[in-house]
Amino acid sequence: MTLKHNDRPRGPAIVPITFLLDDPASLSTDPSKERRLKGGTGMSLLELALENGINIEHACGGVCACSTCHVYIESGNENLSEASESEEDRVEEAPGLQRNSRLACQCIIEGNGPIVARVPGWNRNAIKEDPH
Ligand code: FES
Repeated sequence: MTLKHNDRPRGPAIVPITFLLDDPASLSTDPSKERRLKGGTGMSLLELALENGINIEHACGGVCACSTCHVYIESGNENLSEASESEEDRVEEAPGLQRNSRLACQCIIEGNGPIVARVPGWNRNAIKEDPH
């Protein structure tokens, strides 16, 4: 699925964001489990990840209509947009739901960071399951 880009204005790429990849081989050609990036306000975590070769699944194209971009915000949630009601409803469908679960496509960078997001190892497999 192609990511649907938004027209939010982007700030300079100065916000420190770390992605922790439980299974880097399924998401990237880079085997590192920890990827330190810089993002700009107005970007979603999904956009930042994809632009840096971290292929978080995004079956609906980033419009909050699936839950395949599920991530855990380990710290820095206050630097992200608040979860909308529709995101909260959608993320409840994600496997492995935790208190810090968010949808990467709905996490818009708003503060100066730092932010740490964990991408679960089963992210890649979530889309491959047969629909029930
Ligand atoms: S990509 Fe579908 S909800 Fe984020």
